[in-house]
Amino acid sequence: MRIVPIASGKGGVGKSMVAANLSIALGQAGKRVVLADLDLGASNLHLILGVPPPKAGIGTFLSGAAGKFENVILDTDYENLRFVPGDAEIPGLANIKPNQKNMLVKRLLSVDADYLVLDLGAGTSSNILDFFLMSSQGIVVTAPALTATLNAYLFLKNAVFRLLYGAFGQRSKAFEYLEALRRDGASLQKAYVPAILDEVKKIDPERWAVAIDRMSRFRPRLVMNMLEDPKDADKAQKIRRSCKEYLNIDLEHLGVLYRDELQDIALGSRIPIIRYKPQSVLSQAVYRTADKLVSMEGEADAPLSIAELDGSFQTAGLEAETDFGAKMAYVEELLSSGALTTGDLVETVRSQQFEIDKLRRENQFLKYKLARAIGQGFSG
Ligand SMILES: Nc1ncnc2c1ncn2[C@@H]1O[C@H](COP(=O)(O)OP(=O)(O)OP(=O)(O)O)[C@@H](O)[C@H]1O
Ligand SMILES: [Mg+2]
Repeated sequence: MRIVPIASGKGGVGKSMVAANLSIALGQAGKRVVLADLDLGASNLHLILGVPPPKAGIGTFLSGAAGKFENVILDTDYENLRFVPGDAEIPGLANIKPNQKNMLVKRLLSVDADYLVLDLGAGTSSNILDFFLMSSQGIVVTAPALTATLNAYLFLKNAVFRLLYGAFGQRSKAFEYLEALRRDGASLQKAYVPAILDEVKKIDPERWAVAIDRMSRFRPRLVMNMLEDPKDADKAQKIRRSCKEYLNIDLEHLGVLYRDELQDIALGSRIPIIRYKPQSVLSQAVYRTADKLVSMEGEADAPLSIAELDGSFQTAGLEAETDFGAKMAYVEELLSSGALTTGDLVETVRSQQFEIDKLRRENQFLKYKLARAIGQGFSG
């Protein structure tokens, strides 16, 4: 069974959208899929999937009220897709106890499926990291916004430290070293993983070898969502470079997804975009992502070579260009079919211009206030 955890660090970048639609696409490709909503406390995957409000989910199971785990694995009317709902009533995945987490991991691992897709909540709690590390090739969803890319990096940084803690094992010299760094909060914040590994190699070569082995197999995959422009694809390179330099890990690019207004309509109608508009650029990009996962099944256990990883970033750049072209062609088609009038388009551009002007004025005002504050500071 392939495990596909989907995380992000920052919330609202599209994890659940990707989890739901990717699962449906994998099911349509003939894979038996189980999709689990692990965003406990804020579960909303059933809304995106468009299934009735679940009576019982992971929360009910953990409380013991649902009986066997099988009871919370629900059939859906999507081909080959079963769904494990989360629970909005329990206070979040961050708060479940280690023994509950271990039991949940065990139950999830014993599920009979080709793919187990895990929709993780936002954040970097140890439970989220542990679910993410159930696979060495988990997916990190991010968006072009600076906060989103930074959070993707910080999430991966936390994941690498979690992985190191696991590899060093308690009571080892390497573990003590990392703990000393952690107690001195600031030095772990500034930590530079290659330097940590060099130090560990000196004090605990055995644990160092274990860590190096695990790190070399750790190949998280990036999905860049909410693109507006082909240039946005470059933001992925930034995350990759930081990960290489500071964390000693390399990333693979699984592909790009453009922002699409149809997604909001789909969500409002409780229909996943892939079913609502399978021909849309966004849906087609989800299918492409699913195809990549399936085509990489054979090589999943051997880490990709640097050339292959480079290639994945180049491909994502090309996808960003082609999808943009497709989006533009779509607008032209709407125009020529009369579904979108030139008037609509003019109206859209006009309202965007209004927003831009408003922001510009606000910016001027803030600059003015800042200049005054600085002036006062000097004179006072
Ligand atoms: N490519 C897209 N184009 C347009 N809207 C999108 C796209 N991807 C996601 N959205 C919208 O963005 C919002 C957030 O998406 P989603 O709930 O999937 O994010 P999330 O990362 O799971 O959030 P959370 O961290 O709160 O669980 C939703 O309203 C969703 O419909
Ligand atoms: Mg979500």
